[in-house]
Amino acid sequence: MSNESLANLLKEERRFAPPAELAAAANVTAAAYAQASEDRLGFWAEQARRLSWAVEPTETLDWSNPPFAKWFADGKLNVAYNCVDRHVEAGNGDRVAIHFEGEPGDSRSITYAQLKDEVSQAANALLELGVTKGDRVAVYLPMIAEAVVAILACARIGATHSVVFGGFSAEALASRIEDADAKLVITADGGYRRGKPTALKPAVDEAIARVDRVEHVLVIRRTGQEISWTEGRDVWWHEITERQSTEHTPEAHDAEHPLFILYTSGTTGKPKGILHTSGGYLTQASYTHHAVFDLKPETDVFWCTADIGWVTGHSYIVYGPLSNGATQVIYEGTPDTPHQGRFWEVIQKYGVTILYTAPTAIRTFMKWGDDIPAKFDLSSLRLLGSVGEPINPEAWIWYREHIGAGKTPIVDTWWQTETGAIMISPLPGVTETKPGSAQRALPGIAATVVDDEAREVANGSGGYLVLTEPWPSMLRTIWGDDQRYIDTYWSRFEGRYFAGDGAKKDEDGDIWLLGRVDDVMLVSGHNISTTEVESALVGHPAVAESAVVGATDATTGQAIVAFVILRGTATDSEELVAELRDHVGRTLGPIAKPKQIKVVSELPKTRSGKIMRRLLRDIAEGREVGDTTTLADSSVMNLIQSQLPSAG
Ligand code: WT7
Repeated sequence: MSNESLANLLKEERRFAPPAELAAAANVTAAAYAQASEDRLGFWAEQARRLSWAVEPTETLDWSNPPFAKWFADGKLNVAYNCVDRHVEAGNGDRVAIHFEGEPGDSRSITYAQLKDEVSQAANALLELGVTKGDRVAVYLPMIAEAVVAILACARIGATHSVVFGGFSAEALASRIEDADAKLVITADGGYRRGKPTALKPAVDEAIARVDRVEHVLVIRRTGQEISWTEGRDVWWHEITERQSTEHTPEAHDAEHPLFILYTSGTTGKPKGILHTSGGYLTQASYTHHAVFDLKPETDVFWCTADIGWVTGHSYIVYGPLSNGATQVIYEGTPDTPHQGRFWEVIQKYGVTILYTAPTAIRTFMKWGDDIPAKFDLSSLRLLGSVGEPINPEAWIWYREHIGAGKTPIVDTWWQTETGAIMISPLPGVTETKPGSAQRALPGIAATVVDDEAREVANGSGGYLVLTEPWPSMLRTIWGDDQRYIDTYWSRFEGRYFAGDGAKKDEDGDIWLLGRVDDVMLVSGHNISTTEVESALVGHPAVAESAVVGATDATTGQAIVAFVILRGTATDSEELVAELRDHVGRTLGPIAKPKQIKVVSELPKTRSGKIMRRLLRDIAEGREVGDTTTLADSSVMNLIQSQLPSAG
């Protein structure tokens, strides 16, 4: 990649100051940045005291064997105790921990006292099934409250959980069970999605037929659908938990005890089992949830719409909110079941004050139309969050205007499965926000942008995002493969963590994420980020969504090919395509003008909402389309191809 900036073309001048009222009462003020930069380790030692330790740590960080970190290594704690029992002991047992909203409309509110009983019963059930400290447990569940109970029960007894997204295939499940060497699988008969029960248990049966270590399958009854049953191996969750005691004394585990493994697919190679441990992970999940979402446990109702199968669900449904004693909503289904206003109906019903969702969802809501959220009372909302990919400025503005009543701050939070918790984000009571920028590393976090030679770039230039100091919730390794951990994250730039993302610093030194470096295009010697061209396209009133790729080109090296979905009101025509090209040229400069623009009705996305540009590149370069197994909907590629008269 050339030394030239990755792209520094987009001009976004809009600024939004924090609301005075929020700023005045904010959990974290600007002083935290200064405090943490004076004494980073002291700052994290202080944040660790947010938790209840059975043995207080005396050592903050052991970095004597980099890149293998130990945080709070001589401390001991029980993570589940921190998420449940201590809130009951503090007199908050009657507070609702979880408002569960099922897709068919069933709902249940669970207090912290009830959660403590359920987690204790589940922990006792795991012990009865022979699961002990250090064993691995695979969790393959829909978005139901029992998923939280199951995860916390594992944490409580020191079993390491490995949650596998309920939408993954039997094959994906089998390879994860095998790699983690899990001895128990916790699943359900099925769950509700898109208005009907979908089955989970058959995939577990098929997966277990391929691996031989699993001793038991614990099955939660959610839909009541018919399932096949293996006597002696399969156990109903309700039968075994009901007869357990609601008392379970939590044991203190080492701070570095493995809490969970979560697999990330990445673009190549077999999935990486990202390992997170206990004390440092919980410290940062808890602190960031408190700081970035300004959570007030007595009054807020928090809702993170992610699935529990992703790290966002781990850190901002389970560990962050519960360690802070929050009241939160868990919703089982899709946003358009039974109607496209379902999210807004849920917010109205529970009085949600803080919403955390993804740009892909926001762009979908934009496409569905402004009139849908307008029908609901969203006045309880006071803070909005975004995560998962760069948010285009237009989507950011729409989110603020149509969901946030033109008032709520937006926190654009950058992090990864590997980082465990939020790393770069505005602070809602401090930061003057800029649409499209995650802006600044949180207090206690060190991030910068470097060029090919690992030199920090000047303000106004682009390069690679790196993290320059270890952080408490960092991954500890790749499960079973220390060398791959070193090679993947710590070898590109000596002594620094390479995140794999392109980024630029603006004139104020604020960070703008530009997408995965694999997605950066090289056009006539200029590095151009797919994200910026996509943002420019979405900035045109006719465009709802877009995905941009670089296709090999004999003259320019790579040529920009854009796939766009039009808004309901626009129609595909040669004039419109010419106008879009000019629009990008005007916004970013002539070099960024797409050579081709293809109008389609869908884009290929993974189940976590990330666009699979690799597949679009196959189309743009006239190749047969590659592996589509991780797509949310595998028929999308056929649909796209049928909409293109002549690909390539
Ligand atoms: C990758 C990590 C973090 C939980 C969900 C995704 C992209 C994530 C942002 C953001 C720009 C973002 C990055 C990152 N990403 N958040 N706010 N702005 N890009 O976790 O599946 O491990 O993906 O998601 O490319 O590297 P993940």
